Amino acid sequence: MREGTATLIRREDYQAPAFWIRTVDLTFDLDPAKTLVTARMQVERNTAVAHSALRLHGEELNLLRVLINGESVSFRQEGHELIIDNAPDADFALELRNTCAPEKNTTLSGLYTSGGSFFTQCEAEGFRRITYFLDRPDVMAIYTVTLRADKSKYPVLLSNGNLLESGDLEEAGNKARHFAKWHDPFPKPSYLFALVAGDLVAREQRVKTRAGKEHLLQVYVRRGDLEKTEHAMNSLIASMVWDEARFKLPLDLDRFMVVGVSDFNMGAMENKGLNIFNTSALLASPATATDQDFSRIESIVAHEYFHNWTGNRVTCRDWFQLSLKEGLTVFRDQEFSMDMAGSPSARAVCRIADVRQLRAAQFPEDSGAMAHPVRPDSYSEINNFYTATVYDKGSEVVRMYQTLVGRAGFEKGMSLYFERHDGQAVTCDDFAQAIADANPGSALSVRLDAFKRWYSQAGTPRVQARGVYDAAAQTYTLTLTQHNPATPGQDQKLPQVIPVALGLLSQEGQVLPLQLQGATEVLNEQVLVLEEAQQSYVFIHVTSEPVPSLLRGFSAPVVLDDGLSDAQLLVLLQHDVDAFNRWEAGQRLALNRILGAVRSGTPLQLDAAYLDAVRKVLRHPELDAAFKEITLTLPGETYIAEQLDVVDPQAIHAAVEAAQVQMAAALRDDWTAAFEANQIKTGYTPDPVSSGRRALANLALAMLVLDARSTGDTVWPGRAYQRFKDAGNMTERLGALSALVAAHADLAEPALARFHELFKDDALVIDKWFALQGRTPELAGEKSGRTFARVRQLMQHPDFTLKNPNRARSLIFSLCMFNPAAFHRADAAGYVFWAEQVLALDAINPQVASRLARVMDRWNVLAEPYRSAALLAIRRVSAKPDLSPDVREIISRALASAPDADTAPAAPAVATQAV
Ligand code: TRP
Ligand code: ZN
Repeated sequence: MREGTATLIRREDYQAPAFWIRTVDLTFDLDPAKTLVTARMQVERNTAVAHSALRLHGEELNLLRVLINGESVSFRQEGHELIIDNAPDADFALELRNTCAPEKNTTLSGLYTSGGSFFTQCEAEGFRRITYFLDRPDVMAIYTVTLRADKSKYPVLLSNGNLLESGDLEEAGNKARHFAKWHDPFPKPSYLFALVAGDLVAREQRVKTRAGKEHLLQVYVRRGDLEKTEHAMNSLIASMVWDEARFKLPLDLDRFMVVGVSDFNMGAMENKGLNIFNTSALLASPATATDQDFSRIESIVAHEYFHNWTGNRVTCRDWFQLSLKEGLTVFRDQEFSMDMAGSPSARAVCRIADVRQLRAAQFPEDSGAMAHPVRPDSYSEINNFYTATVYDKGSEVVRMYQTLVGRAGFEKGMSLYFERHDGQAVTCDDFAQAIADANPGSALSVRLDAFKRWYSQAGTPRVQARGVYDAAAQTYTLTLTQHNPATPGQDQKLPQVIPVALGLLSQEGQVLPLQLQGATEVLNEQVLVLEEAQQSYVFIHVTSEPVPSLLRGFSAPVVLDDGLSDAQLLVLLQHDVDAFNRWEAGQRLALNRILGAVRSGTPLQLDAAYLDAVRKVLRHPELDAAFKEITLTLPGETYIAEQLDVVDPQAIHAAVEAAQVQMAAALRDDWTAAFEANQIKTGYTPDPVSSGRRALANLALAMLVLDARSTGDTVWPGRAYQRFKDAGNMTERLGALSALVAAHADLAEPALARFHELFKDDALVIDKWFALQGRTPELAGEKSGRTFARVRQLMQHPDFTLKNPNRARSLIFSLCMFNPAAFHRADAAGYVFWAEQVLALDAINPQVASRLARVMDRWNVLAEPYRSAALLAIRRVSAKPDLSPDVREIISRALASAPDADTAPAAPAVATQAV
């Protein structure tokens, strides 16, 4: 039943709906076992499309009644559709009644229960699991919602918009029930519907917009979690202020609610006026949340709030346009976080973190089995396309608009976008057109069609840059060449529009003025717009051989090969005015060494020049601690793997570990000094300066404990244990714990036990406890496979459960997704484990299962014996007959990515026939 329903949906097949639903009146009689839903809708034929039957979506529902204009009508049910063949031509009232079973709903899509309360998740296609509907984003209706439920179990009843009335229900002999009636004045697609019912409490704050209008902000959580909502509330207020200041976008509702829930498939959801959050993206206190958690919460609260305009007021015509709202909203939340960070250095650290994330998740996606354009052409399960490409590459595409038209031009474009499309469901083309039309003659407008290839071509473009200096003529000629490798289904690609921000430095690190041949302007920095396969640029009056600083601020989501020597990279690391490229130069120096060792199969040996350069960074009197930490952190193993045609995860890990051990030893005294210099004696605040200092202190401590493992020193492990015990905040406590768990098995055990005992009643902290153990790096010389064995053992821990997505992710995803060396084992045990867990999760929650399935996206580039073993495991999952459409799509794509490997058995059969 599950399987046969998977069909491929194509973007080119889009058709407007045959009917519009203008208003919806919903009544819920909430009961965990069987909830009764009554829906009354005003429906209207769309005369612009061919006359056809009314087809409503519905899944896992029990249909009780169908009335049109108060009379029963004949209908059919086919698969997941309710079909009414003879719907009237004139506008009509449709009334439906059905039930659903929230407490049996483990998918966390539709209406479900968590911790005894009711919650909904409707994006993308969850509303059809609540009632029959035209569950597509271009059908927008005005909702009125009545909730009825037991008053003592569910004292709080929430839905979108404004509360119209509430009170006790005078039902025959039963006064235990109450009701609340909500009305949302803004037409919205069904995916933005939400309800919450339960025993919750709220932090409240009244705020005024610039126009002087007062609003009520509320953050609802379980009793006992209220103290952990202050940071979320502050983030919400800051988001409101920022969106009005930067984009002139005010809050449009009297009341804005945010609710936390422990069982949730992703981070959070932007339901109109009623955002629902994974508690992991909402709750924070210094004792239980790290600096990273604080900053993640700030950006997710902002992200969901910003959706109110980019997503809700203007929504998507169809799900292929997902990046219209997601790419744009990620861009907005990234800009917000940078503006909140303040200093140029703190802004750069934000940008670096975003780019690291893009490279760790989106680049591999773009070169694997699931590679797809920012605007995909087809899908079978839309939930599989809430991807790093749609979100993070989508955000980079929006950033390039801003780079091409300037910040003010982009703001004008946004205004025109809302002027034209407020209240509509539109496409990425509409967005592009608005930005271009607001900026006639701009670098964007004159090549808009070519720019839009960013939406249609998958894959990460490669840009090669080579410069030639002519000392006699004092010219510097820079030649840029672009190439976009083939991706599944896309062999031929056209050149893309690539803004390349650059500057030139002298060998001593001084800024050299830029003047293009034929131009009159002299600049310190410039944006070149590469649009052909190859273009050359001649700079004049260049007085000495320059060091080019290219793709500053990561001005386009490409892989850059600038061919720079170590000496040139060292100049950039020490002197570049662009902090991003300074960091990048350090990463490149490390990467070159790690790749050299991996490619040659020889043990890594760091040279004095490199160690000297990183020592200079660590000792630098002016650089911020946060920047030092991010610069001294080696490139991630997934990103390193991206640079290789054949990936041996063990070889990569060995090189990274060797680099760490050598950096730990060579910089011992500097780590000690950095640790001491970055102690914070005052109370905890999560601001960029103090969180940067804690990050650097934690890195230093990890290095010192790692080094103690080689020297036999007992002082630093002892200090780490003491710091773990006495820590005043979670950032320091977890930092010390992870240093011990990584490199000091003897002290790690009592520390882990103590940590569990301290926090056993706090689910989010216990998630960290599991995650830390799942992510523990394997160490040369330790009992090999210690982490894998530990994870297997923890699967039996009484606190472990597959049913809660946060918990499942904390242990299983930590190993399979974030710990390559522990996962990719020569004995294939990691892959066997993966297959087991994908299947077990799929029976409970297909969305979570298919995320785990994605771990094998790049199996095809693995070295042997990993590659063959991975393929076996994928086939094992594929052999299961009743996989969810979610997992089936991922697995089929993985298998299709090596046609030769997978059709191998079929080939001889064809040959035999031919004979
Ligand atoms: N639209 C949400 C966001 O990015 C995320 C989202 C999409 C989601 N589908 C979901 C969240 C399913 C939870 C479950 O803000
Ligand atoms: Zn979003």
